Amino acid sequence: MFKSLGNNASVFPMPVLMIATYDENRVVDVMNAAWGMNCDPDKLMLCLTGTHKTAKNLRISKACTVAMADRAHLKEADFFGIASGNKMADKFEKSGMEAVKSEKVNAPIIKGFPIVMECELLEEVETEHLHCFVVQVVDTLAEEAVLKEDGKPCIHKADLVLFNQFRASYMAVGEKVGQAWGEGKALL
Ligand SMILES: Cc1cc2nc3c(=O)[nH]c(=O)nc-3n(C[C@H](O)[C@H](O)[C@H](O)COP(=O)(O)O)c2cc1C
Repeated sequence: MFKSLGNNASVFPMPVLMIATYDENRVVDVMNAAWGMNCDPDKLMLCLTGTHKTAKNLRISKACTVAMADRAHLKEADFFGIASGNKMADKFEKSGMEAVKSEKVNAPIIKGFPIVMECELLEEVETEHLHCFVVQVVDTLAEEAVLKEDGKPCIHKADLVLFNQFRASYMAVGEKVGQAWGEGKALL
């Protein structure tokens, strides 16, 4: 028996993205975003409120890095979603994290998050029902410590976290339960 939960967009899981940008004075800002996803194999769409400091920075610097939060930096990741660079000039400094400039794009890389995408702004899309920034992934970097022997990231080693919007909670990643483009073959 189904029970109605209302007209909420109810996708699970959502990512915990750390979007890092520079302002016009090279001051670092980072925001937490759950409403972001691949929209092409090498592009992301980031649904950001247009008045966020991050949105303003993106329009100026035309670039960002997008990392995924890990369990070790949950406090900092959540802080990036509570405080705004619009009101707190030293928001990033207050987090205690460190940043280095990306070699490929005009944006900071936050040290500590194990996997990060270096991105350039392609366009800001605004229609009646959509507002997002589409970014080109120029490169993805991963700490060697989170890679498996095959050179691909191990999500458990990276200890990335997920966002559960039903409960506004952060979740750890569970076990592998199947192979995509594989499990269904039994029914072909
Ligand atoms: C778990 C979580 C997810 C969030 N997801 C988004 C999002 O997808 N889009 C958005 O515009 N704001 C999102 N926010 C809110 C921003 O992170 C928040 O307003 C932040 O202060 C913006 O920072 P800035 O003004 O320094 O850019 C989220 C906050 C949290 C805690």
